[in-house]
Amino acid sequence: METQAFKSSLRSHACGHLNAENLSEKVTLCGWVDTRRDHGGLIFVDLRDRLGLVQVVFNPQDAALKSAKDLRSEFVIQLEGVVQARPPGMINAKIATGEIEVSATSLKILSEAQTPPIQVDDDKVSEVLKLKYRYLDIRSPRLQNILVLRHEVAQVTRQFLSERGFIEVETPILYKSTPEGARDFLVPSRVSQGEFYALPQSPQTLKQLLMIGGMDRYFQIARCFRDEDLRADRQPEFSQIDIEMSFVDQQDVMDLSAELLRHIWKEIKGADIGEIPVWTFERAMNTYGSDKPDLRNPLKLEDVTSVVSGHGFKVFDDVAAREGSIKGLAVPGYASVSRSQIDKLTAMAKQMGAKGLVWMKKDDKGLQSSIQKFFTPEQLEDIFTKAGGGNGGAVFIVADDFEVTCASLAMLRDHIARELNLIDFSKDAFLWVVDFPLLEYDAESRRWAARHHPFTMCKDEHLPLLEGGKDADLKKVLAKAYDLVCNGHELFGGSVRIHRQKVQEAMFSALGFTNEEREEKFGFFIEALKYGTPPHGGVAWGLDRLIMILAGTAAIRDVIAFPKTAKASCLMSHAPSPVAREQLLELGIRLATT
Ligand code: AMO
Repeated sequence: METQAFKSSLRSHACGHLNAENLSEKVTLCGWVDTRRDHGGLIFVDLRDRLGLVQVVFNPQDAALKSAKDLRSEFVIQLEGVVQARPPGMINAKIATGEIEVSATSLKILSEAQTPPIQVDDDKVSEVLKLKYRYLDIRSPRLQNILVLRHEVAQVTRQFLSERGFIEVETPILYKSTPEGARDFLVPSRVSQGEFYALPQSPQTLKQLLMIGGMDRYFQIARCFRDEDLRADRQPEFSQIDIEMSFVDQQDVMDLSAELLRHIWKEIKGADIGEIPVWTFERAMNTYGSDKPDLRNPLKLEDVTSVVSGHGFKVFDDVAAREGSIKGLAVPGYASVSRSQIDKLTAMAKQMGAKGLVWMKKDDKGLQSSIQKFFTPEQLEDIFTKAGGGNGGAVFIVADDFEVTCASLAMLRDHIARELNLIDFSKDAFLWVVDFPLLEYDAESRRWAARHHPFTMCKDEHLPLLEGGKDADLKKVLAKAYDLVCNGHELFGGSVRIHRQKVQEAMFSALGFTNEEREEKFGFFIEALKYGTPPHGGVAWGLDRLIMILAGTAAIRDVIAFPKTAKASCLMSHAPSPVAREQLLELGIRLATT
């Protein structure tokens, strides 16, 4: 960083930039009082700005410095002084400015501060207070460093993509519903009363329209809005590094994305991420019960349907008969698992829809299990071994529909690995997941839904199945879609798009859209496909998730300057908040609750 960049009419240097090279220089500094200590007539202040801390010494006997006595934490001050070496024994090797201090010659208080409700960088302060006084929390080097990291990643990305012919284009925020599967945030129109904009869940249709418009290669650091249940890695408002490319197939987009990933890790972490394994969706689900497995977790699932069924135990036999899924999760060294731990694991599995959890464990006392009385000792031994169990270990079995079995065991896999410290958090593990089913059946609405989104192309060889539209065939159709998983998070995902109108129509038919629905939701888009559409594909990265991983934090709100709570509210500004009745009337809105 160019240190001169911080020079202004109010200061000569940033606090954190001073070092032994500035000895004897006269400097003017501005910043916040981090701490103040009175020592034998001298007052020591650690002065803080974004670039770091520097120690300043005031002699309040000096008339120009007498207001040093009034200084309190978080006062903003300006001072002149001379850089001098710290006395021997006072050197602080922990900070960059630790060899020097500034002997002040003048002091001006630029603004006073009341006692702040939270101390900067105090771990013990509640999250609620930190969010309420977010601007004070942002004074902590931890948050400032994350925001700087976020900026650097954006810069590296912009440069990388620009050098490869990508053009950054801004797309509208006041738009129409975009299909990413979440609920829309709606904005009422004043001019056209009773009509609403939807904030984009992603710029999906817009970036495709840019390809139809001949832009060839587009990117945008795009703001997206989704009204969905929030989790540790989800916010209602988040950013994507959104990319779209013309005249490409799946491998081209995956290669470009992998190259950018490699570049970011090299530039930001100085790390080489090595080869990224490519797994099919089916393999990921069967091995880990999840399409976003954390590969740092060594625990695996085994299908045990053929070993456990056919012995007269109704629970297993029924699931096998309806072609459900029976899988075991083996945990080495877990034979000591207690009854209360098993109860907790069972409750977790039930949360994911499982009806129960079968456990087995083998220690000096032999094999014990919750299904002991339904099987012979030999059969139990066989089940335990086939599930991957060994001496001193435990096995947990779930029998249910494929999705429920996978989801519940994936949750246990994650929970147990954390409990037993099996994950090496110092590493990053990447995985490509490909060959996703194009569609998934929603039993409730008795309709097919797009697994990624309705513009995703199927594998070329599966096109006749999609066009045929038969239920039995539709479930076999695989998509030209790909996700990149890092440490158990879906970091980015994308697909090759449908570029022929006929195929798009077939997709909408498979999804059961009526002609009116099609026209109303996507009429303009279907029309655009008629006027010459290049084959194209793209991907969108979760920028916030990327920064979370790079910063090593588990909470997405740590990487967003002004985040929302789990209830999608801003504790600082109190958004969302009621509005005046007149404002609603202007919009033609009357609340049902008033
Ligand atoms: P998708 O819906 O998979 O694809 O989103 C892409 C990436 O965005 C991130 N993400 C989120 N991050 C934070 N909070 C959220 N609520 C949230 N939802 C999604 C994830 C995810 O991998 N238009 C397509 C992409 C394409 O096909 O090009 C799309 O948006 O990291």
